[in-house]
Amino acid sequence: MSDVVPNAEPNAEPNPEPNPEPNPVSTEILDGIALVAIANPPVNALSHAVRAGIDAAFADIDSDDSIRAVVIYGCDRTFIAGADIREFGKPPQAPVLPDVINRIEACEKPVVAALHGTALGGGLEVAMGAHYRIALPTARFGLPEVTLGILPGAGGTQRLPRLTGVGVALDLITSGRQVDAEEGLRIGLIDRIASQAGPDDTADLGAAARAAGLAFARELIDTKAAVRRTRDIAPADVASDVFAEYRAKMARKSRGQLAPQNCISAVEGAVNLPFAEGLANERILFQELMNSDQRAALIHAFFAERQVAKVPEIKAASARALTRIGVIGGGTMGAGIAVSALLSGLDVTLIERDAEAVSRAEASVAGILQGSVKRGKLSQDRYEAILSGAFRASSDYAALSDADIVIEAVFESMDVKKDVFTRLDAICKPGAVLATNTSYLDVNQIAAMTSRPEDVIGLHFFSPAHVMRLLEVVVADKTTAEVTATGFALAKRLKKIAVRAGVCDGFIGNRILSHYRKAVDGAVLAGASPFAVDRALVDFGLAMGPFAVSDLAGLDIGWATRKRLAPTRDPRETYAKFADRLCEAGHFGRKTGTGFYIHDAEGPRPNEEVLDHVARDRIEKGISPREISDQEIVDRYMAAMVNEAARVVEEGIALRPLDVDVTLLNGYGYPRWRGGPMHYADTVGLARILADIERFASEDAFLWQPAPLLKRLVAEGKTFADLNAA
Ligand code: CAA
Ligand code: NAI
Repeated sequence: MSDVVPNAEPNAEPNPEPNPEPNPVSTEILDGIALVAIANPPVNALSHAVRAGIDAAFADIDSDDSIRAVVIYGCDRTFIAGADIREFGKPPQAPVLPDVINRIEACEKPVVAALHGTALGGGLEVAMGAHYRIALPTARFGLPEVTLGILPGAGGTQRLPRLTGVGVALDLITSGRQVDAEEGLRIGLIDRIASQAGPDDTADLGAAARAAGLAFARELIDTKAAVRRTRDIAPADVASDVFAEYRAKMARKSRGQLAPQNCISAVEGAVNLPFAEGLANERILFQELMNSDQRAALIHAFFAERQVAKVPEIKAASARALTRIGVIGGGTMGAGIAVSALLSGLDVTLIERDAEAVSRAEASVAGILQGSVKRGKLSQDRYEAILSGAFRASSDYAALSDADIVIEAVFESMDVKKDVFTRLDAICKPGAVLATNTSYLDVNQIAAMTSRPEDVIGLHFFSPAHVMRLLEVVVADKTTAEVTATGFALAKRLKKIAVRAGVCDGFIGNRILSHYRKAVDGAVLAGASPFAVDRALVDFGLAMGPFAVSDLAGLDIGWATRKRLAPTRDPRETYAKFADRLCEAGHFGRKTGTGFYIHDAEGPRPNEEVLDHVARDRIEKGISPREISDQEIVDRYMAAMVNEAARVVEEGIALRPLDVDVTLLNGYGYPRWRGGPMHYADTVGLARILADIERFASEDAFLWQPAPLLKRLVAEGKTFADLNAA
């Protein structure tokens, strides 16, 4: 007999509202087993309605003597993927998740969590509150809270160490990494993997999880299995210095971040305190994080990275099919782009200038793929299959005649690019997308070399292209929506985050970078050393300081760009010459062994010669150096970045402030826990950023001209977030 009832709210008052919150939780009773189903698309997040529904379901189950076991499962694509992140930062509404999970755990009948899809965060905590766990072979589990600036605050830090031991729990909770079903079984997180073969894409995974849970529950009834509560497991003893060592390790690895440290303290509580006190301790540490700016920043980053794909012009457009990719140029970028496409299962033809360059490109592609094999990311079989099937290199452009998309990554020279696009126009099939990976050049001019500018687009990858997640999709004047949609679809296929950008020198990221580089050069001219600038910005949270980054990229690249722009440079600009002089002396950074830093076996250290070039520059400009504090370095850097970003938004080069944040977070090493420059500006206040710009303008009025958008927002008392929401 089967009987499905939506669960009533516990102690529900008659609801005067015409549209009461619909209940996403229903219970079906089958042969004395209560099957509690969660249906809250898209990811069954634990919204208030879900929490209330589960609570009410267990209230009914507790009072129904005919029920002998319980199965809890998720409908459609996944078990519960966590708390409803949209509720973060709002006042909590009862029943709160820890109470709901305590209630599940307290149930007097065996409770089975049947898992599929991704059981994440609060979802995995629900599963750990159940008495038994079974999972489909394709299920994955994780506690990603730390990546959102919080900790698993519904008992996760107390129950996981009891199930898996402290070492594994510390690893999973502080990294947020996911484990698959096999690893989950090995570490004691789940009891068994369902015997169903891995379902194909069309299978109803929710139904498969339900069936697995039902069979497990029947077996528990047959064997008269007892209720088995995680809270009753005694945590294993650990060496006394484990936590101190972990704290030191995370302080190095997650510099500046609060959440990993609080995660460790919460797990320590699981070992040193009785369960109830451990839970209370976890709650305090959780609330501290919930109230932090870091949590707000990380949640902003999470939603911004999803919002960025919402581009009005491509809403109604369908992407063109992409199977065969052409890449022109097999240097740093071309080889990386080819590898990225190959690892995503695409077919790649790479074109180089001559036989020798073809061999070099083949060797680089094979070398990068070999690195993936060494790191266990690619099997040897797949490696061989790629090199003997999906990949080929040639010096004959005719090999691109059937490519669906061609991505050009030749030298950064307009003449060379124009020549390449003229040839592509003659060879490529109609409908092929013609893309350029240029860093700065005018995509409209490149498109004008073809008879089909509507098919031309910029696809700006970042180095190393097979690693970096950002892809700027640069939409030129004549690019069609279909081609833009194809750029976004390619990014998704390559597991990258696409950001729409308009045409200007440097698009979103490099244009902003060029501007803040001038501001840090200004800080050096005013008195700071390049090494002090790098240190202050690394302390602020950047992965690397700007001068160290230049050394890595090659100082000759920026030098070439500056030379290209020299004829159009405004005479009012203060032009710092110390970087050019380093290049003139043959220091190109890491590639020559010396640049701002000396790169040798001892590891990078300051190149003191730099200070001579800086001193000469100051003398020529009549500047007496003064003390520049670390705070001033950060203020200059951020004010310049935000100011130029405001112009980029106002001119429509970036659709919204959040597009700038996603660009800087994923392409430029900006600290994620600060949310991106625009979110940072909102956090410190736009009025303060404007005041900083006005303060620095007294030294260099040309560089520090406030962006009109920034002035307007300050005058109207608005934030960048207001523009995101508009
Ligand atoms: N809360 C609210 N909305 C969520 C959400 C969540 N936990 N997880 C995903 N969504 C939304 C996304 O914003 C997106 O919405 P739009 O379609 O409107 O943009 C939609 O669900 C689909 O998400 P994705 O595009 O990311 O889909 P995917 O298939 O690529 O990935 C996923 C699915 C793996 C579940 C991924 O969305 C994800 O990692 N989600 C976050 C999971 C997470 O961090 N959970 C822990 C939450 S914290 C917590 O649980 C703390 C606690 O207990 C107190
Ligand atoms: P690179 O110098 O490493 O490689 C360029 C390759 O193009 C060389 O191997 C060269 O032989 C080949 N080439 C030149 N002319 C060619 C032609 N007509 N036909 C076929 N192949 C040709 O340069 P890199 O760094 O890979 O840059 C390539 C492009 O990517 C440039 O436009 C650059 O601005 C852009 N870019 C570079 C980034 C970086 O960090 N290096 C980041 C993002 C974009």
